Amino acid sequence: MTRTIVVHSHRGGTGKSSVLANLALLIAGEGRRVGVVDTDIQSPTLDLLFRLGPGASLTDYLLGRCEIEATAQQVGDSFGPGTGGLYVVPARTGTAALREIMAVGYDVGMLPEGFDRLAAHHALDVLLLDTHAGLNNESVIAMASADVLMIMARADRIDLSGVEETIALAGRLTCRRTLVLSMAPAGIDREEARRRTEEVYGAPLAGILPYSPEMAALYGERIFAEAHPDHPMVGEFRTIISALDARDEVSRA
Ligand SMILES: Nc1ncnc2c1ncn2[C@@H]1O[C@H](COP(=O)(O)OP(=O)(O)OP(=O)(O)O)[C@@H](O)[C@H]1O
Ligand SMILES: [Mg+2]
Repeated sequence: MTRTIVVHSHRGGTGKSSVLANLALLIAGEGRRVGVVDTDIQSPTLDLLFRLGPGASLTDYLLGRCEIEATAQQVGDSFGPGTGGLYVVPARTGTAALREIMAVGYDVGMLPEGFDRLAAHHALDVLLLDTHAGLNNESVIAMASADVLMIMARADRIDLSGVEETIALAGRLTCRRTLVLSMAPAGIDREEARRRTEEVYGAPLAGILPYSPEMAALYGERIFAEAHPDHPMVGEFRTIISALDARDEVSRA
C-alpha cells in the first residue's frame, strides 16, 4: 500500500518544497520507493530542487498530452545511496501550456487517477505531494488524496491566524493531520510555540525547524540533507518522518 503524504501551508514560502525534498531524499535513502509530485502548477519548484532535465510534466498530463507514467523522472543515485528509487513528477511546462491550463482548465478527476497510476506503476511505498499555498483546485484535490496531511506554518501571528478555511477543509478529511513549524527564530520558546500551534490547528506538532542560514545560503541549488548530511536539522527531518510513519495515533481534533 502506498502512503500518500501531502505538504500544505495556508501562506506561501513556509518551506514546503524544501522540506518535502529533504523528506523524499531521506525516505528514499532508507531503501523505500518514493514518488514526488509537484502539484504547484502555477509556481513549480521541484524540477529545480531535484535538478531534473527537460521532459513532460504534470501540466502536460492534465492537458491530455501524455500519460502520467511518462512524466516521472528517476532521480538516480546522484543524490546519495538509495535515491535511485526516487521518482519526481515536475510541474513546469512553459508559459504557453500554463496559460492554456489556466484558461481552459482540466478534468480534476485526472489528479487522483494520476496519483494512483503512478503509485501502482512504480510500486511506491510513499507518495509525497507538494502543493501551492492556500486553497486552489490542485491543493484541495491533493489534500483529499492524503493519508497524512502535513501542515507547515511559521511561528508568527500571521501564519497562526486566518487559517479557518484550511482548518475547516482539513477537518472534513479523514486523513491524519500533523504540523511542522518552520523557520523558527533562535531562542523561541518551543513549548509555548507547540501549545499555540496545536491549539490553532487542532493537530499534533511533529517538529520545529529552525531558521537556518545554511539552508538559505543553498539558494535552492542543493537539497539540505544532501549538502549537510550530518547537520542537526537532518535529525529533525528524521523525527518528522517518524511522526509521518506513525500509524496508531489518529488526530481529528
Ligand atoms: N528552515 C529554513 N531556514 C531558512 N531558509 C529556509 C528554510 N526553509 C526554507 N527556506 C528557504 O525559504 C525559501 C522558501 O522555501 P520553499 O520554496 O521551500 O517554500 P514553499 O513553502 O514551498 O514556498 P511556496 O509557497 O512559494 O511554494 C527558499 O529560499 C528556501 O531555501
Ligand atoms: Mg513550494
